[in-house]
Amino acid sequence: MEYLRLGVNIDHVATVRNARGGTHPSPIAAALLAQKAGADGITAHLREDRRHIRDDDITALKEAIDIPLNFEMAATDEMVAVALKLLPNAACIVPERREELTTEGGLAVTGQQVRLSPLIQQLKGAGIRVSLFVDAEEAELRAAADLGADIVELHTGRYCDSPAGNQRSQEYERIAKGAQIAAALGLEVHAGHGLSFETVPEIAALPEIVELNIGHFLIGAAIYTGLEDVILQMRQLMSRARPAK
Ligand code: PXP
Repeated sequence: MEYLRLGVNIDHVATVRNARGGTHPSPIAAALLAQKAGADGITAHLREDRRHIRDDDITALKEAIDIPLNFEMAATDEMVAVALKLLPNAACIVPERREELTTEGGLAVTGQQVRLSPLIQQLKGAGIRVSLFVDAEEAELRAAADLGADIVELHTGRYCDSPAGNQRSQEYERIAKGAQIAAALGLEVHAGHGLSFETVPEIAALPEIVELNIGHFLIGAAIYTGLEDVILQMRQLMSRARPAK
């Protein structure tokens, strides 16, 4: 099986900082600690309302880290302009509604091809790898491949939120099948949203998935044992679920 990368999302370090409006804790310092602890990439989402990460954070982050930056962004001209200036390793296009607490569902690629296509082409033209954050539905995966996306990130939120049992098994099957379809379409397959120590093993065991992006759980658990410790523990669970060839 291919190596499974861990992308650490540091958005919620900025959430805590912004609660008091100062400079502590620093998402940049957290990203550097994550890098030291073995993260394979750093993910950050510059939201339209700048509720956590801000423009100066994302610029400083790109400068500070030596590992790839995955820039999460809404499909807007404003964010494309930021991405073209920033030149992250990858841009992950996510749906965004101002009133939601977090990214609640995947991007509706079907029905939005005309709007998404020029945007994807601009990003790709600048050498940025394009990822679409989608639900594991065949029609969405096919539409992503047709648009020339390099990567799909499968939304694991519903799987993680379902109580263990039948409902979670059904969600798992959907993600497992989606990962197979996406890989067969030639897409690189990532997954993320809501993953924790409890939910990561099954997702990490899916051989088509090569990257997981995890944020809220890691930043929350870091309050108890520190960021380096939780990243090490997460990496261990991921490796255990995924024996080397
Ligand atoms: N992947 C994508 C595309 C996301 O939008 C998010 C949330 O920002 C995550 C992964 C990480 O989700 P969580 O913070 O629940 O681990």
